[in-house]
Amino acid sequence: MTSTNHIRGVDDLGKDGILEILELSNHFLEVSNRRIPKVPALRGKTVASLFFEDSTRTRLSFEKAAKRLSADVMNFSVSSSSVKKGESLRDTIETISSMGAEAIVVRHKSVGVPWIITEWTDASIVNAGDGAHEHPTQSLADCYTITRQLGSVEGKRIVIVGDIKHSRVARSNVKAFSALGAKVALVAPPTLLPSSIDNWPVDVIEDFDVAIKEADVLYLLRMQLERQEESLVPSLREYTNFYGLTLDRSQKLQKSSVIMHPGPMNRGVEITGDVPDLPNALITNQVGNGVIVRMAILYHLLGSGVALSGLHSEGEEDG
Ligand code: NCD
Repeated sequence: MTSTNHIRGVDDLGKDGILEILELSNHFLEVSNRRIPKVPALRGKTVASLFFEDSTRTRLSFEKAAKRLSADVMNFSVSSSSVKKGESLRDTIETISSMGAEAIVVRHKSVGVPWIITEWTDASIVNAGDGAHEHPTQSLADCYTITRQLGSVEGKRIVIVGDIKHSRVARSNVKAFSALGAKVALVAPPTLLPSSIDNWPVDVIEDFDVAIKEADVLYLLRMQLERQEESLVPSLREYTNFYGLTLDRSQKLQKSSVIMHPGPMNRGVEITGDVPDLPNALITNQVGNGVIVRMAILYHLLGSGVALSGLHSEGEEDG
């Protein structure tokens, strides 16, 4: 299905690849619901994670996913590594591959790093975020969350709100959602929209209060202040007035609509008050599904030859 054995961007998968990962995820959902949610699918394989940028959810969920598949996990922390002594990215990658990592999960502030490092290693590369470019595994987790909650992504109106310009989640999600047949709309102040948006398969809606009424999925983004070189909104308070999801504004959503956010949330800015606790907010579901989908991703990349049927949990006869 994939043209390569990497997941660096959504295009490495395409529509069929995304659907295959979602299908596989159903299997790992079943595994995750078992009394012992651990199978020997990747026993003897090694997954290394290299995070050159901060992360909570993505790093921990890859670790959890790899451990549930019985892989060995190598966690690389930049702050305590030889990168601090000036070691290059290439030498770091070659060192990790020499230790036998079959998959490398990488997050880096520079766009394109997951593509460059495939030149230096035979390991499968998984992009856990490269600058403001792509974050394909978040998209897969989001597609799975929408599919579980609303039945499918196809035909849904998905409204993405916030700092689109600096968001790798938005870039990957626009690709993945539209590949699966969703109608994607963006809502943002003009200063937070990318200049190259003309080629994107999206509508731009100026007024959040108009867009919210037609959303099946309202997808909020954090203001990525760490990637902004200048102040792009007059003030955060004004941003919240126009683009924040307040409890009042959330009343305008249709009853069946859902609220999503990839985290970390900046409460009081793009989302306020008790909105994250509303029954139609799927923010914690996205995190839980992230582990399941990442099990499917690692199995897809490293599990060839291991049949899914008959994979029993450790210590259980019938799984
Ligand atoms: C996102 C990221 O790092 O790109 N978070 C995540 O991986 N769940 C979004 C963000 O940082 O705002």
